[in-house]
Order: sequence, then structure tokens, then C-alpha cells
Amino acid sequence: MCGIVGAVAQRNIVPVLIEGLRRLEYRGYDSCGVAVLANGEPRRARSVARVADLDDQVRDTRLAGATGIAHTRWATHGAPVTDNAHPIFSRDTLAIVHNGIIENYETLGEVLRGKGYEFVSQTDTEVIAHLIHSLYRGDLFAAVREAVQQLHGAYAIAVLHKDQPHTVVGARQGSPLVVGLGDGENFLASDALALAGSTDRFIFLEEGDVCELKLDGVRIADRDGQPAQRDVRQVAAYGGAVELGPYRHFMQKEIFEQPRAISDTIPQADGFDPSLFGEAAPKVFGKIDSLLILACGTSYYSGLTAKYWLESIAKIPTQVEIASEYRYRDSVPNPNALVVVISQSGETADTLAALKHAQSLGHQHTLSVCNVGTSAMVRQTEFTFLTHAGREIGVASTKAFTTQLVALFVLALTLAKVRGHLSAAQESNYLKQLRHLPAALNSVLALEPQIIAWSEEFSRKENALFLGRGLHYPIALEGALKLKEISYIHAEAYPAGELKHGPLALVTEAMPVVTVAPNDALLEKLKSNIQEVRARGGQLYVFADSDTRIVNAEGLHVIRMPEHYGLLSPILHVVPLQLLAYHTACARGTDVDKPRNLAKSVTVE
Ligand code: F6R
Repeated sequence: MCGIVGAVAQRNIVPVLIEGLRRLEYRGYDSCGVAVLANGEPRRARSVARVADLDDQVRDTRLAGATGIAHTRWATHGAPVTDNAHPIFSRDTLAIVHNGIIENYETLGEVLRGKGYEFVSQTDTEVIAHLIHSLYRGDLFAAVREAVQQLHGAYAIAVLHKDQPHTVVGARQGSPLVVGLGDGENFLASDALALAGSTDRFIFLEEGDVCELKLDGVRIADRDGQPAQRDVRQVAAYGGAVELGPYRHFMQKEIFEQPRAISDTIPQADGFDPSLFGEAAPKVFGKIDSLLILACGTSYYSGLTAKYWLESIAKIPTQVEIASEYRYRDSVPNPNALVVVISQSGETADTLAALKHAQSLGHQHTLSVCNVGTSAMVRQTEFTFLTHAGREIGVASTKAFTTQLVALFVLALTLAKVRGHLSAAQESNYLKQLRHLPAALNSVLALEPQIIAWSEEFSRKENALFLGRGLHYPIALEGALKLKEISYIHAEAYPAGELKHGPLALVTEAMPVVTVAPNDALLEKLKSNIQEVRARGGQLYVFADSDTRIVNAEGLHVIRMPEHYGLLSPILHVVPLQLLAYHTACARGTDVDKPRNLAKSVTVE
């Protein structure tokens, strides 16, 4: 999604800005741009193609300057055309880049039009540019502070002004922004990752902060306009570019990285102790009486899977909600509940807002399950369990999902132990199963050639149904999401028992029905559902545990899963669904790592 990079230095900063945009590319964007102060005038280059194209433009036009801002845009207000690409100018004196959405842009726009400002883009961002311009009296920092008081919505901005060389001013509210500290130069970015190679010292700005970058330092004012001291954190974890290696796409690489990612996420300790989640967790976990899980997309499906574990192993009532729904409905808060937010990025606007909403309702105990230790979500929760998936580049989440499942399984076992539902023998047995997971996953990954054979047929379909029962219903949902987002085949998932209540009407020879069939207590029920599809001429594609006795027959295609894995089976069964989506998308020739209209980190509502 949108990305910001900014810098003040005593050298040409354009290569640093372009490199920063390159590092943010994987998040998805539809246009990009850069502006610098060149001989005291703001000059810019913008492109509706890739950052590489912007780089060519910059070289061709010899755009150079020591003070600059840059942006990747994911369109919200206004189409992805050059006029709407950032940086946006106000009267050729001020340039701004902006992530987020300004909700009162129409009202502000009317006032500014009344003052003679002309709008040349369809963006909400242009309103901020003119607003700051209208408030500028020789001090950009002061003008930005005054302007943000009038903005409603979520934003992170970076601004420069022709009369203030070696100055970039930033502000954030609801969207992340970090300051990178250098020697005699300073930086700003929406993600520390963008500044890898330039610095490893960061200040993570807080909500409402406004900052001013100069060559020799950075000053910050908090939301009340008071000078603020923020901790400087050393973050060395942001290495160079991630290599694709022998894989065709990052998604494929990330699917195959799952054994390693899972092994890194499984705690080293010999048991499930609440201290895995934070120092105060032993005290708090004993008191909580329920869980409220909030997340979006794939992370929501990991929460749905966890509900089965939490209620069956830990016997703790668990509610799972889509973050964007929860934040806008009236709900009944329970101060004794543990609110769990799940997110790969830790920056998803809807999940962050849901967390804030839960806290405002009086929920005091919060836990984040997250893949980014420096993210806003981790900083805003009482407890944390970090997944160690490593950087996920493909827009479609794969290793982030399975590592979330591992984290949530550990949470279920920890709560089971605290609540007296886990014997020492069970604990050591589950630990053994967890430790064997990476090896079991490797056997599942070895099914790839069989899945490629199926994907050829799938690539010619326009619709697909996914069925699962119990613990595997969320896995069917995740399989359908993977297929639709990267192959653009319309896919729906149902609990298999629901088939006869409606979706069976869709079943014809043209409709592939993918079924996840572990050998669990619901197997016989699932077999009946399979017969319902076969009786109507449907084509079934079943991932069946080897001991289920589901075998190939007319209209029934079976791939055998290597072993039955009990309660951890969802972690294995989702992998062939990831591979099926991946190879189907490849066969259809889509842009697998950057599917149309989607972004990796969804930082707007
Ligand atoms: C789908 C996918 C999305 C994300 C969702 C939440 O493959 O990746 O559905 O799961 O946007 O993102 P995070 O986990 O970063 O909060």
C-alpha cells in the first residue's frame, strides 16, 4: 500500500529515495513519485508505472537535490493517473506525500477554494497541501502542526517547502511513520525497512506526533504541541533485498519456507509457560475468562481456526471478529477478556482501529500475534507473541498464516495449562507433535507435482467451491481466498454440512469442489457430503489423509496427505491449497506476487 520516504542531507538524496521506494514496492502500489528542492525550487517526477520507470525518468531529467520526499501510491481518492500521483504541490512552493485518508477533505476543500486555491487532482491529499500552504508564515513545522489540528481521518505525511532548505516535516495519526537518524543527515519513512542501508537507528513516532528533520537533528512535538522525547531504537533486522533463489515467485518461495518459519516460531522452552507472551502474562492469564480475537483476511482465518483449539483444549469461550466490523458495531465489553489481535504486518489500519476501540471500551488485556516486532500493533498491546516467518513479500499470505497458527496453538496450550486442562503427559506429547511439524510439512510440500497436474484443469475454470468441516472449515475459507486473490477465479468456501442448504444448487460438471478431508471425528459426515456432490455430477478434488479410504473414482480426484496430524492438521492441510492456488495462477499467467488491486499492508480503512 502507500509508502513514504523522505530525507535531508548534504548529498544528492534521490538515489536513497528511489531505493526506499523499491524496498516498499512489494506492498503493492499503482503510481509513484519523488520531489526534491533543486536550486531552491520544488521539482518532481511521477510515474503510473513501476519504480524502475520513475528511476529512468529521474536519470533522464537529472533530477537531483539534497532535500526530498517520495511516495508509492495505492489509489483511494482519484484514479491512478499522473495528476493524482504524489508528491502533490501547492502553488509550486510546497510538496507533500500522504498515506491514509482525510475524511473531511470536501469541507476543507470548499474553504480553500473560497480562498482562491485551485485543485488539479482528485486526491484528498491536495487539501492538506493547500491547507499547510495557507497556514505557512515562514515556519513549516508550525504550519503543519496547525494544519493537522483540522484533519479528520488517518494520515502520515511528509512535506517540504521551497523557502526551507534542508527541512522535511512529517506528521502521523493512524498511519505509521518512523524517523531514521543519520550522521549529518536524517530520514523519514512509513516503514523502517525503506531506510535499510541508510541507518539502523529509528524513532517510531507516536499518534499525533509532528516532527521536523534538519541536517543536525530532529525535533518532535506531541499531539498537544509540546516538545516530546522519543526513544531511539537500534533495529538491525532489516537486511538487504530478499533473494528469489531458485523459485519463480516469492509466493512459491514463501510456501516452501514454511518448515523453517514454523520451526523458528515454535518456542524453544520445554513447556507452555505464559511468560512466553510477556512478563506480566503469568499473572493476567490466570484471571481472564474469555478471548476476543480481532483480525482481517487471512489473519482472521487463523483466528477462526484458533477458536476450535481454544474452546476444545483450553475450554475458554472465544469470539472471533472481523476487525472492520467490530469497530463499528455496538458490542458488550468484558474487562476480563483477553483481546487478541492477529496481523502479519502489525500495521493493518482496520485491526489497529479495532484494538483501539476495544481499549476505549475498557478492555485492558491485549495480546498481539504479529510478524513485525517494531510494528504499531506490537507497541500498542500489553503482550506479544512474535511469529518468525521472516519478511513476506508475496501479497498473498502463506508462511505468515501457518506461523500464526503455530502461535495460536501455543496460546491454546498455555491457557489450557493455566486453567488446569493440560496434563504433563499431554504437554510433552503436544510439544513433540509441534517439533515434528516441519518434517511433516516437508512431506506435504513433496506433493507439488501432483498439485501442478490439477492446476492445469483449474486454470480453465471460472468458479470453485471449497468444503471443510470443523477445524478445517477456516482452512477451506483460506483456500478459497488464496485461489480468488491470485488466480481471479471466483471461489467460495462452505462448511460441508451447509452444502444442502443452498450451494448444492451450483454444483454441475463445470464446478470443481475442493474438499479438505482429514481423518477426524467428522470424516464420515464429510464422506456423505462428498456423495451429495458426486450424485449431482460435480467434480471433487479431495486432499485426504492416507487412512481415510477415500480413493480415486469417476468424478472423484484424490491426493493423499502423508499422515494424519490430529489437532495440528489444519497447518498441514492448508499447504496444498496454497500450492493449488499458486500453480493455478501461474497457469493463468497472473501477476502472482502483486495481484491486481491488492496491497500487502493495508494501511487505509
Ligand atoms: C490474504 C492476505 C490478507 C491479509 C490481511 C490482513 O492473502 O494476505 O487477507 O491477511 O490484509 O493483513 P495483516 O495480517 O498484515 O493484518
